[in-house]
Amino acid sequence: MTKPKRIRKAVFPVAGLGTRFLPATKAVPKEMLTVVDKPVIQHVVNEAKAAGIEHFVFVTGRGKAVIEDHFDHQFELEATLSAKKKTRELEELLAELPAAGEASFTRQQAPLGLGHAVWCARDIVGDEPFALLLPDMLHHGTTPCLKDMIEAYEQTGGNLIAVAPVPEDQTYQYGIVGVVDAKAKTSRITSMVEKPPKGTAPSNLHITGRYILQPEIFTLLSRQKPGAGGEIQLTDAMITLSETPGTSFHAVRFDGTIYDCGSKIGFLLANIAYGLERDDLGPQLRAALKDLI
Ligand code: G1P
Repeated sequence: MTKPKRIRKAVFPVAGLGTRFLPATKAVPKEMLTVVDKPVIQHVVNEAKAAGIEHFVFVTGRGKAVIEDHFDHQFELEATLSAKKKTRELEELLAELPAAGEASFTRQQAPLGLGHAVWCARDIVGDEPFALLLPDMLHHGTTPCLKDMIEAYEQTGGNLIAVAPVPEDQTYQYGIVGVVDAKAKTSRITSMVEKPPKGTAPSNLHITGRYILQPEIFTLLSRQKPGAGGEIQLTDAMITLSETPGTSFHAVRFDGTIYDCGSKIGFLLANIAYGLERDDLGPQLRAALKDLI
């Protein structure tokens, strides 16, 4: 196999309305809700950075401008921190900022589904393979999930999807894949289905929200008909892509913990888990939780 093209760009679909978090998300995008002291989207961008991503493509929507502001300089704040000699705070802020030209923003003008959101990034991504990270899903493990996937991609090329087991009674909530060897770290995908009705899933391996995709997906998305929930589904376009001769699709098992920050329980658990592992908060939080319970 010739060396696969490097993954330089990552797409972050951040146009979702966040109705599950109302009223918190009435004026604040759900991606800006914080897990400890960083917005959820910052955690996910940091995962991409740790995997070597060089360009961050955000598919935003109306009411999401604050995400764009978050990834820009805030000169007044920076000058104040500097004048007050709050060097550590300033350094931390600057370290998390994409450099000039490293971030792009485009809008999904109507909520037509994840597949449509990804398609909105087609011109910015262009003709190269790219990573896709769904910001609701925080992947917490020893190695960043996308880094693991890029390492696998260097061996397999083609398209990859991160997967993890879920209880059988929850498979209907996710995209599910069947694989050749469910125990292997990386395994060829044999089937995919978006939100299978209860009792019909090909396995208990769910799509966790991390993908490496070839640019051919954009052409398929441009003609994709609405699927589950009446939305243009990415999984449906991936199924068509996987049926194209010569296309490879592999699943990479993620062995860490996933917090679905699109759900209230996942979001609360993420705050506790990320808080517990912080040197400055962990011991106090642990003791307080014990008291509380
Ligand atoms: C999307 C994907 C689904 C995946 C899930 C992970 O669904 O379509 O395949 O399993 O994200 O969170 P959504 O959560 O947007 O309904």
